[in-house]
Amino acid sequence: MKTEHAPTIQRADYRPLSWTVETVDLHFRLDAEATLVTNRMRCVRNRDAAEGPIRLWGEALERVSLTVDGAAPTAVREADGALEIDASGDAVLVEVVTRVNPRANTTLSGLYLSNGGFFTQCEAEGFRRITCFPDRPDVMARYTVTLEADRAACPVLLSNGNLVEEGLLPEGRHYAKWEDPFPKPSYLFALVAAKLVALERRVTTMSGREVLLQVWVEAGNLDRVEHAMDSLVHSMRWDEESFGLELDLDRFMIVAVADFNMGAMENKGLNIFNTKFILAKPDTATDLDYENVESVVAHEYFHNWTGNRVTCRDWFQLTLKEGLTVFRDQQFSADMLARAAGPEGAASARAVKRIDDVRVLRAAQFPEDGGPMAHPIRPDSYQEINNFYTATVYEKGAEVIRMLHTLLGQEGFRNGMDLYFSYFDGQAVTCDDFVEVMSEANNGFDLDQFMRWYEQAGTPRVKASGVWNAADGSYTLTLAQSTPATPGQHVKQPLVIPVAVGLIGADGRDVALRLEGEAQAGACTRVLKLTEDVQVFRFVGVSAEPVPSLLRGFSAPVILELDEDDARLAFRMAHDADPCNRWDAAQRYAERVALALAADPAAVVPEAFVAAFRTLLNDGALDPAFRAQALALPGEAYLLERMSPADPAALRSALVRMMRALGATLAADWLEVVERLQLAGAYRYHPGDAGRRALVNLALRYLAAAGMADGLALAEARFADATNMTERFGALAALVQSTSPARAAALQAFHDRHRDDALVLDKWFALQAGAWRWGDAAEPALARVRVLLSDPAFSLSNPNKVYALLGTFFRANPGEFHAADGSGHAFWVEQVIALDARNPQVAARMARALENWRHFTPALQASIRPQLERVLAAPGLSADVAEIVGKALGA
Ligand code: TRP
Ligand code: ZN
Repeated sequence: MKTEHAPTIQRADYRPLSWTVETVDLHFRLDAEATLVTNRMRCVRNRDAAEGPIRLWGEALERVSLTVDGAAPTAVREADGALEIDASGDAVLVEVVTRVNPRANTTLSGLYLSNGGFFTQCEAEGFRRITCFPDRPDVMARYTVTLEADRAACPVLLSNGNLVEEGLLPEGRHYAKWEDPFPKPSYLFALVAAKLVALERRVTTMSGREVLLQVWVEAGNLDRVEHAMDSLVHSMRWDEESFGLELDLDRFMIVAVADFNMGAMENKGLNIFNTKFILAKPDTATDLDYENVESVVAHEYFHNWTGNRVTCRDWFQLTLKEGLTVFRDQQFSADMLARAAGPEGAASARAVKRIDDVRVLRAAQFPEDGGPMAHPIRPDSYQEINNFYTATVYEKGAEVIRMLHTLLGQEGFRNGMDLYFSYFDGQAVTCDDFVEVMSEANNGFDLDQFMRWYEQAGTPRVKASGVWNAADGSYTLTLAQSTPATPGQHVKQPLVIPVAVGLIGADGRDVALRLEGEAQAGACTRVLKLTEDVQVFRFVGVSAEPVPSLLRGFSAPVILELDEDDARLAFRMAHDADPCNRWDAAQRYAERVALALAADPAAVVPEAFVAAFRTLLNDGALDPAFRAQALALPGEAYLLERMSPADPAALRSALVRMMRALGATLAADWLEVVERLQLAGAYRYHPGDAGRRALVNLALRYLAAAGMADGLALAEARFADATNMTERFGALAALVQSTSPARAAALQAFHDRHRDDALVLDKWFALQAGAWRWGDAAEPALARVRVLLSDPAFSLSNPNKVYALLGTFFRANPGEFHAADGSGHAFWVEQVIALDARNPQVAARMARALENWRHFTPALQASIRPQLERVLAAPGLSADVAEIVGKALGA
């Protein structure tokens, strides 16, 4: 662990290294407490860089020896955590031997143990915790790796590339040698040495090569890897069909590990996954889990081209690989859903996926962009790079790629991708390189102004107003953009914002659009390009006053400000031809009601609002998955951001009143939904079925929240009879979010049924940590969380457990976390400090829960500030947490 708070690294300070590495020959003598790592690298002088020493970074290493061309080096210095070695000539062989202690490594970065096996995690800067190395992504080398370990404890020895040799050694040990034919940056190195078994499949790639696919798990989990394997095969096909990109290895391996900081990692040929995103079977995984497995498997697989074959020059360019790869996995999931839904349901299935993505963006990225950690998708500085694996870099980054796709069109985008690979395959490049190549492939399409999306932080506002002129049948739409100031960025320039527009006639049908100056009317949805601060667009031939439907498909990551009365929102909820906007109309209406109720404890839920919800609920023409999205209230985190000052207790009370009103008033409708849509027969993961289950689960949630006796009875029965996790957990969640006396027994029964299943217990922890207080007698969530902290199944060392219990409480239960007595905030300090001593990356994620404290009421701010200060003053605080808390305090 770092003992001092880290200095700030600037993007502008990038310089190529004086020496890089051509080949690396690594030998690991694996041992739980003392692993010996011998690293022989051929270092070569970089003619394009300034003269200087060889620089090798190292962290938490015990250095055993260091030689240059077989002899002790003439001059070695330590500077900024790196070794500097003077060398002459154009190439030298550096050999460095180090010892590491995997058992003592609780950070899960570098080489660590999980359930007796050895695993590595090197992105972003974990490789320097394994050996001394110029640990930067612009150093691309060819790796040969020999692993040596105890044969009984670690029968399986894996690393990147191809297995070239294996054999037995004395004393019950064995070895395996792997060679990766592709040069790669050190962050893509991986090894696994553990007791695992594999599901294997052989498939033929588009060029006719047969490749071996393996998914490695612990023996007891072999019955839940089929879906991951199917997802991998589908991802391979999709990348061939959509981008002409083929797997470039003879063997592709996925390994699942229970202790993992994030979702998964795209190491070349050896992806390592959090078990949560691999293991799925009907009895233990929900529809959402199935969906997540599919998209994370795809995401990591797609990195093989967008990330690995073409990688990032430096970590400021992270969105080059992450934004693009998230966009690719979103497109993949949309295509998979559309295909499963068939021609009739395809459009709705795509919209449901898009809505999911927008929900995530609004819930996670918008608050980030409005807080002290706001940064452009390509940041200009950081203290700790691990803190920049953010919703901005990933999700907003994907939105930026999506806008490029919108502006260039499907074919133009594909041409740009082709050119990108033809120029940059095997290189480490920048976001500028990517955008330039997109322009070049599209006849020099001007993207200069578009680059501002990479430079400016903050969520842009687009203010729209429209005027219909009865006399000449014109409709004038004025769009104005502005981006609020963010830390360190006070002045913002106008962006290129694609605004997809439709005009709805009084009959509820779209008007064919004709802009002034055009010969005839064309499509019903048009993408307007907003590039100035204010722009006016005039439509002609509009014979009656239309209702505008703006930002269709969520065509840009902005906040749309448009004055619409309740009647208009209800009209668009019922008629907007764009499903995303139909959903958005419902969200806006719900937001308006929630904020009004939060401002006035005596206010009641307006009848017109309930009626609008009823109309949507009973619209049988709408796919159940869509209805489940549209009838779910907006996320609490998003609503808190929309509230000024943010008052979590008042908002929670408003949401409780809304849930109860919608549950009680629409009880008969919800009951009918349950009856009509309930599925019989064996579970299958299919979007049509999943949509029905989602709507039924939502119905139970509303009925239970309102305390409707027949609803609660249904939930109890469904909990008892469920044949799959989606239904069992849906029913349990409904019971837990109610005053039902069956609540405790159901939680106990669920626990007992799944007591040996770590991933299912995570759901059990999360459900309780996220519970609202429905009755006066109900226990505060914090009391429950404290009890669960000492549950034998809980462990502060396992990130999944931490995210389930603490992450849910801090980030998904603001009404309880921000209790007026400050107990939640004091608890946060305790836990952040305890976590930081083991795993700074995880601690920093939890620390972020309070970063937007300045948006809260004065009373809450007064409670939070001293707690932030306590954390910042804690001795031995990591750079990770120090950056978050320091920025939150404005230090
Ligand atoms: N590159 C990974 C992905 O997005 C994520 C990742 C970055 C990661 N750093 C990590 C995963 C550290 C685990 C631990 O696909
Ligand atoms: Zn990624």
